[in-house]
Amino acid sequence: MDESVELKKDVYWVGAVDWNIREFHGYSTSRGTTYNAYLITGDQTALVDTVKAEFFPEMISKIESLINPADIDYLVVNHLEMDHSGALPRFMEIAPKAQIIATDYGIKGLSRHYRGEWPLIKVKSGEELSLGNKTLQFLETYMLHWPDSMFTYVKEDRLLLPNDGFGQHFASYRRFDDELPSLDPVMEEAAKYFANILMPLAPLIPPLLKKVEKMGLEIEMIAPSHGIIWRSQVDRIVKAYAEWSTGVAENRALVIYDSMWGSTETMAKAIAHGMSQAGVENKLLHLRKNHYSDIIKEILTAKLLVIGSPTLNEGIFPSVAQLLAYLKGLHPMKKRGVAFGSYGWGGEAIKAVEAEMKAMGIEVLEPGLGVIYVPNDEDLENCVQLGKRLANSL
Ligand code: FEO
Repeated sequence: MDESVELKKDVYWVGAVDWNIREFHGYSTSRGTTYNAYLITGDQTALVDTVKAEFFPEMISKIESLINPADIDYLVVNHLEMDHSGALPRFMEIAPKAQIIATDYGIKGLSRHYRGEWPLIKVKSGEELSLGNKTLQFLETYMLHWPDSMFTYVKEDRLLLPNDGFGQHFASYRRFDDELPSLDPVMEEAAKYFANILMPLAPLIPPLLKKVEKMGLEIEMIAPSHGIIWRSQVDRIVKAYAEWSTGVAENRALVIYDSMWGSTETMAKAIAHGMSQAGVENKLLHLRKNHYSDIIKEILTAKLLVIGSPTLNEGIFPSVAQLLAYLKGLHPMKKRGVAFGSYGWGGEAIKAVEAEMKAMGIEVLEPGLGVIYVPNDEDLENCVQLGKRLANSL
């Protein structure tokens, strides 16, 4: 079992690594994850967040290696979701004097999750709690990721504990960004996390970053509740968040599709070929061969979405409909696109995909391209030309 790690003097990681989780409420976690809880010891002692319920023994053994858990004075609940609060009821049994600190939404939500009678302290943005040698400052971060979410800032250490913010589903033996041979996989997972978890409320992030600046919170280290701790690359992740939250994307295209008998796939390849001929980076993504949460990560940083669906039972093919429903809830920003697909008789899917794209604010650049049954040479040339036109529109 891994051990506690000191981040700053008297501040320790006491979380757990979930190496083998491969599915997280519908999100694919091919690199596992961690649940990061932090113990701040001193004149008074606080635990910031807990871990998923089944990892309680791992968290508590790390705490016990440092102090007696019964001596903990406060449990700060930065976020109520059960990957962070699952171990809370068992923790409160062995730390009976601990007072729970949370936002108003957090306190209300706690009673809907758990039935314990615990001492509660409600905090608002800007309020502080002194532990003697450490001062915790709280910042409500409504809807990042839930209404209850907040950041905790340790003033003396310039340490930000933002829970889901800046996190990644990334399991590692290492805790800090500068201990890894490459940060690329971590940044990839940070982008995927942002795209799938935080994108719907992305417009709240730039004002939040401004608020942090206005409050004069200098940040030397960011210790999120999932994945790697940002110690040497704080600027890199903050800059990435600033870009992702304003919909900044690259001049590249995604051709996302499913296919029943290969015709829509043949069209997809011809469209991508046209884009390549026009010199625009593109990617083909078959919806039953790529997990939708990975496709969403790609969508975060691509300007152009070309979405293809065969017509099935007068409608959109199920995997395409699933992606569109999921994407709609994530409120993609500043995207453009076109629909396409093969059909036998009705061809309703093309217009239906187009309607869904418009409904979620994607600018539809031209009417969708349909082909009856199997595309012939002329059809394929039309697809290539479509790819070129789209590429040239970037
Ligand atoms: Fe990691 Fe919103 O929970």
